[in-house]
Amino acid sequence: MPALAALASGFREAWADPAFRGELDALLRDYVGRPTPLYMARRLAAETGLAHVLLKREDLAHTGAHKVNNTLGQCLLAHRMGKRRVIAETGAGQHGVATATTAALLGLECSVFMGVEDIRRQALNVYKMRLLGAEVVPVSDGAGTLANAVTAALRHWVERVEDTFYVLGSALGPHPYPLIVRELQSVIGEEILQQLAERGMTVRDVDAVAACVGGGSNAIGTFHPFLREVPVGERPLLVGAEAGGEGVDTPRHGASMTRGEPGVLHGHYSYLLQDEAGNPLEAHSISAGLDYPGVGPEHAYLRDAGLVRYEPVTDAEALEAFALLCRTEGIIPAVESSHALALLPRLAEELGPRATVVVTVSGRGDKDIDVVREAGLGAD
Ligand SMILES: Cc1ncc(COP(=O)(O)O)c(C=O)c1O
Repeated sequence: MPALAALASGFREAWADPAFRGELDALLRDYVGRPTPLYMARRLAAETGLAHVLLKREDLAHTGAHKVNNTLGQCLLAHRMGKRRVIAETGAGQHGVATATTAALLGLECSVFMGVEDIRRQALNVYKMRLLGAEVVPVSDGAGTLANAVTAALRHWVERVEDTFYVLGSALGPHPYPLIVRELQSVIGEEILQQLAERGMTVRDVDAVAACVGGGSNAIGTFHPFLREVPVGERPLLVGAEAGGEGVDTPRHGASMTRGEPGVLHGHYSYLLQDEAGNPLEAHSISAGLDYPGVGPEHAYLRDAGLVRYEPVTDAEALEAFALLCRTEGIIPAVESSHALALLPRLAEELGPRATVVVTVSGRGDKDIDVVREAGLGAD
């Protein structure tokens, strides 16, 4: 498809251009607030039975999640490629808010496709997008969740490709999107490596690194620099937490790595929850951001190559981890991020009480307050 070929060459040129990289780095610093801290969570470590837990605080990035790293880069690229309009899809609403934010910053028109079920679950983010000047386009196909929104956005992009840039929100879709998103999110893992060194720690002092996996953008951004820069024997265990929903033995989950089969969705070949005819099944997760029946293709490769391990975490386990971080550290995480936090007690059991684990807290939990209240947290 010519639009994808133009995007691939546009990105390749921009990424090699020191002026583009300099502008992106300056905005990441001054607008997004990077580097985000790597915080030593002492009380959480004690509660989960680990020696040290370090939290990579993407919740402190402007707009409250890692998504802005990607939207800033893609909106700068849209501008450079002469597009005056951007579109995006969103599930939890974080990617929609981040796109609306960076589009406003750069003076781009913005429309965000969002499933009607997610519009209901994430009303606050819908309102924020409108305040930021974006149009929110409801998608009522299928379950009215993220997968339907991606389909609608791809379809729309094909119709308006001359003036429109599609800001894809995770490390999925047709090439070059998984590559672009990985490169833009790798700032997370690069900073972790640098911040470990600033603390006088080496990568050998870290036993495991964990991140949640929806489409896989914060996880690939966290893991890629470790995969790229650290030799296999010295690398910590890399673990992705996917949505176990109500349990992987029920039909209500989003665990495409644990229960999916190879298949094609949205232009990429990866693990997919699908029926016998290859049609994607509806995913379920308490977190709108993990509610996707597939996963970015590079994660499928990493899994098959044995380089990263993926584990399902249920809604109930994620809620427990959410409550634990609130009570031990005074940090209200996104329910997506809580899936990664839920791995901590498991890792303590596996690696022992002397272990050090780094977890990416991909976003803050403001958007999820209604969801956790409905689930009964804090009711007593
Ligand atoms: C805070 C947060 N974390 C994680 C995710 C999952 O996306 P990804 O796997 O692309 O990081 C989302 C998606 O909306 C999110 O909002």
